[in-house]
Order: sequence, then C-alpha cells, then structure tokens
Amino acid sequence: LASTEVDISKIAPGQAIKTVWRKQPVFVRNLTPQEIAAANAVDVSTLRDPQTLAERTKPGKMNWLITMGVCTHLGCIPLGTGEGENRGPFGGYFCPCHGSAYDTAARIRQGPAPLNLQVPEYAFTSDTVVTIG
Ligand code: FES
Repeated sequence: LASTEVDISKIAPGQAIKTVWRKQPVFVRNLTPQEIAAANAVDVSTLRDPQTLAERTKPGKMNWLITMGVCTHLGCIPLGTGEGENRGPFGGYFCPCHGSAYDTAARIRQGPAPLNLQVPEYAFTSDTVVTIG
C-alpha cells in the first residue's frame, strides 16, 4: 500500500502536525526534553497499555513521536496538534468525544479508550524526512 513522506524539518520542539496516511490522520510530534522526561518518569506497570516511550519511538530519535491520530475508543480525532489546542491533563492528546486523555508518549491515561494511540510503520529516510507506511 502507498506510503507517504513527511517533511519534519519545520516542526519545532513542542509542536505537532497532523498529516494523512491511508486516509487516516497521523500525528507527528517533536517532543521537548521535558515531555520526554515526563513520559519516562511514568511507572509503566501502572499503565493500561504498558509501553515505554523508547518502545514507541526509534532509537536515537526519542523526540519524534509518530502515531495514528485516531482515538482507540471509537475513532474520533484527538486534539493536541493545533496551536493552543487542549492537550488534556497528561499533556499529550485529548479526545473530546468521551474524554480520553493521552500522555506525552500518546499512551492512554484516563477515559474510556483501551489502548495507546497506535504507532504506524515508518522509517527515517533522512534526518528531515519520515516515510510512513
Ligand atoms: Fe475518543 Fe471516545 S472516541 S474517547
């Protein structure tokens, strides 16, 4: 199936963008050092869907969090990529449909969603280009 290339050179730390792959939204986020530290400070055994940030990112690229932008509850598009959008109580993404809150590793922390935002297959084609799919 078709892959999509994303230029990540303009995404500053703390910013996220929404792109599209297979007609579904994908979030590409450049985590700040503070957001990485917050994700790594969590005791993974307490999580509903236990995964570390390292397991959800590529080696040496822990700041690049790339996930589907599809809430794992009933498929709404969570907020948190736009300027000033509500990122919810855990600072990642927030689904306004039924209040699922994701953390800075896009892991489910509160609300009805059963799973973390899914990480699609992707690869860094260069330092500034990611190919999703
Ligand atoms: Fe996101 Fe229900 S679809 S909380």
